[in-house]
Amino acid sequence: MAHNGSPFNRAESPIPDLRGQTLLVLGSVGFSKRGLYEAAARRGLQIALVKQEPATWEAGYCTSLLPLNCASYDEFDRVIPAVLDFARRHRVGGVVTTFDAAIPAAAEVASRLGLAGIPPAAAAALRDKSLMRRRFAELGLPSANSIPVRTPGEAASAAAEIGYPVIVKPRMGTGSAGVLLATSPDALRDFFATAQLAMQAANGRDELLIEEYLDGIEVCVDAVVANGELAFLNITDNPEVMNGPSFGGYEYVTPTSLSPGTAAEINAINRRVIEGFELANTVSHTEIRVTSRGPRLIEAHARPAGQRMPKIIQQACGIDLLGAAVEIAMNVRPDTDPRARGYACYRCVCPERAGILRVVDGIDAARAVPGVFDVELAIRPGTPVKTLPRDHQEDIAYVLTEGPSYEAARRSAQTAASLIHTEVA
Ligand SMILES: Nc1ncnc2c1ncn2[C@@H]1O[C@H](COP(=O)(O)OP(=O)(O)O)[C@@H](O)[C@H]1O
Ligand SMILES: [Mg+2]
Repeated sequence: MAHNGSPFNRAESPIPDLRGQTLLVLGSVGFSKRGLYEAAARRGLQIALVKQEPATWEAGYCTSLLPLNCASYDEFDRVIPAVLDFARRHRVGGVVTTFDAAIPAAAEVASRLGLAGIPPAAAAALRDKSLMRRRFAELGLPSANSIPVRTPGEAASAAAEIGYPVIVKPRMGTGSAGVLLATSPDALRDFFATAQLAMQAANGRDELLIEEYLDGIEVCVDAVVANGELAFLNITDNPEVMNGPSFGGYEYVTPTSLSPGTAAEINAINRRVIEGFELANTVSHTEIRVTSRGPRLIEAHARPAGQRMPKIIQQACGIDLLGAAVEIAMNVRPDTDPRARGYACYRCVCPERAGILRVVDGIDAARAVPGVFDVELAIRPGTPVKTLPRDHQEDIAYVLTEGPSYEAARRSAQTAASLIHTEVA
């Protein structure tokens, strides 16, 4: 149940041996996000992958590949039968994805094959930020006023109705691409164009949202739900105040430093999200802002958290979210007994501007900082890098730390990250 931060250690449970079984994975988010594949490999699973482009690094993890784009709803009628046929041929025992855009396809395939998953209607609502806000409102959950728009004129009217400042963002998106805070009609005109480019790049569509701005720090709630039972719930803080104009998330610390009362309120909201969307078998990740008027939902996902959140949760709580996602998909009850070990934090090192990453220095110096348990170089020099707000946040490196206190873990991460120097040309 909820992680209470008490320091006790316990031996790890053995990892289940799932040799001889096959897991269907939909979509691939890139080499730096290979944790799901590693979790499957550690359990002895074979992977059947559906991905449009030829497999590169994934090839070492996969036994077969269906080259298909499973991220487009417009082609659902063509995509779903092809994936079902592939899944049946490989006798898959489960389906999983960490790729937001593929969650609706994964839900549909799970439901048609009688495998563990989430209801297709929930997947559709969680993928579309407008439907998600509508569902939050129907469920009586604290959220934000949000109006779908297609043109600058509609955006101006929506902003006037809501009142400045407003958020403009893609209706479907990820990695904070195209999410901007406009404090005036002039800024809104500019930001509308940027948000639209981001939406078109991601989905080829024009729909944006104008939203009420939620102030305050942000937290994430990660949950494991297996067979309808909420087996694990933990809050991670993003303690840096993010007040725009764009919204990169650079630092995360777990467990939370919020007061027990606020943490309980946030956990209760997350429980209601899980129940309201009928998420019975999933690892979920919910984002909430702790505003001056109380906690308010940003969004929820029926997939494990991105970046290195699973790693710090594993370090601080002893729970493997990616392993849990794989096991839930394969209908195995995951180990969710917390083994609290203190605090853990990560910081992202991001490019200052778009271009070619030329130099990354200081990784070894960062590794030598007390409290650091890992420094990962996620993007190698020579690679093109993009930046917010038009593109999604790209992380060149991650610094991961642990400590006996929240502040100690955070300080180590800040010190170590400050030693990493990057140049983009
Ligand atoms: N209505 C809002 N009020 C305040 N901040 C917001 C709002 N919507 C989005 N944000 C900020 O932008 C970030 C990215 O927006 P989000 O809707 O989560 O899109 P993405 O799918 O790109 O993560 C959030 O984590 C939050 O910091
Ligand atoms: Mg988000």
